[in-house]
Amino acid sequence: MTSTPGATAAWVVTGPTSGFGHATALELAHHGHVVLVGRNPDKLATVEAEIERAGSSATSIVADLSDVLSARRAAAQIAALDLPVRGVLNNAGVMLTKPGVSPQGWELSFATNHLGPLAFTDALLPSLADGTNVVFIASACEDPERVPAVRAGFRGSRYLSAEASARGEYAPGGSQRAGMDAYATSKQGNLAAVFSLARQHPRLRFRAIEPGVNPGSNLGSDASAVLNVVSNLLAPVLQFLPHFTTSRRAGRVISGIVVDPSEATGVYYDENGKAVRASKQVSDPAFADRYVRESRELLASL
Ligand SMILES: NC(=O)c1ccc[n+]([C@@H]2O[C@H](COP(=O)([O-])OP(=O)(O)OC[C@H]3O[C@@H](n4cnc5c(N)ncnc54)[C@H](OP(=O)(O)O)[C@@H]3O)[C@@H](O)[C@H]2O)c1
Repeated sequence: MTSTPGATAAWVVTGPTSGFGHATALELAHHGHVVLVGRNPDKLATVEAEIERAGSSATSIVADLSDVLSARRAAAQIAALDLPVRGVLNNAGVMLTKPGVSPQGWELSFATNHLGPLAFTDALLPSLADGTNVVFIASACEDPERVPAVRAGFRGSRYLSAEASARGEYAPGGSQRAGMDAYATSKQGNLAAVFSLARQHPRLRFRAIEPGVNPGSNLGSDASAVLNVVSNLLAPVLQFLPHFTTSRRAGRVISGIVVDPSEATGVYYDENGKAVRASKQVSDPAFADRYVRESRELLASL
């Protein structure tokens, strides 16, 4: 599943088969070769063909990012391609309303949204050239003071420890809605990774973005078929409200951050590409470093 790359730059995107990842992969194709990392070979082939029809080139890597071994294998496969990778977008993610466990037996949102992407990134880092951008799609719902997220039912990250998150256990006072604590806690892990890795690896640039609320994506599609149809119908109207977006609009903002040649690192951007503050908790370097350290200890236990 590889077309010949003739580009001077290559961009890696996880979860390019839907929503933000799909739109961003199409944008990045204007800037060079795109490496598509996803779990469904047929969907990957469709995106690859779409990019080729647009006059660019792509390579598909099949990986289940909830499976840490698969995530690490994908990183090794990308390194072996020996492409001039200039940017990596950790986008793949899930928001689940039904309980699930990963192939390693860990809570599925935490494994897919945080542990897999961290293992993937850690395994890829040694092969990345100085100045490469590594971007994570985070979410403002990790912040208990984020009013729109609180109105939607979130109560911010409920992090106790990586081991507790992997067991699906959270700090008291959480959300009444199924899956929200798991999602918010796992997405805080993306910010912890960006802030902590930026300090650990000054030769690379780590960035996070809150892309905006996108009712037109497949996120949360395990909830109810009716709700999905309704949110897809409302998406064209809701996009004009504050904090809402579309895949296409966000794809332009996200791709701008992935290709941005500035030295910005450890920066968190909002849906308009402006720097914003994360929660007080994850903005504390000691907390972010602890979150990443405990996650790596868990990953090392495999
Ligand atoms: N939508 C929002 O309002 C919103 C707001 C803030 C942040 N975000 C974040 O934005 C990112 C993208 O979300 P989206 O809204 O675009 O959702 P989406 O339409 O559901 O897209 C998710 C992508 O991730 C892939 N994926 C899911 N689990 C995977 C796994 N185990 N291994 C490999 N790939 C996997 C999906 O692949 P398949 O096509 O095979 O399912 C799909 O390509 C996520 O990190 C999400 O947390 C979304």
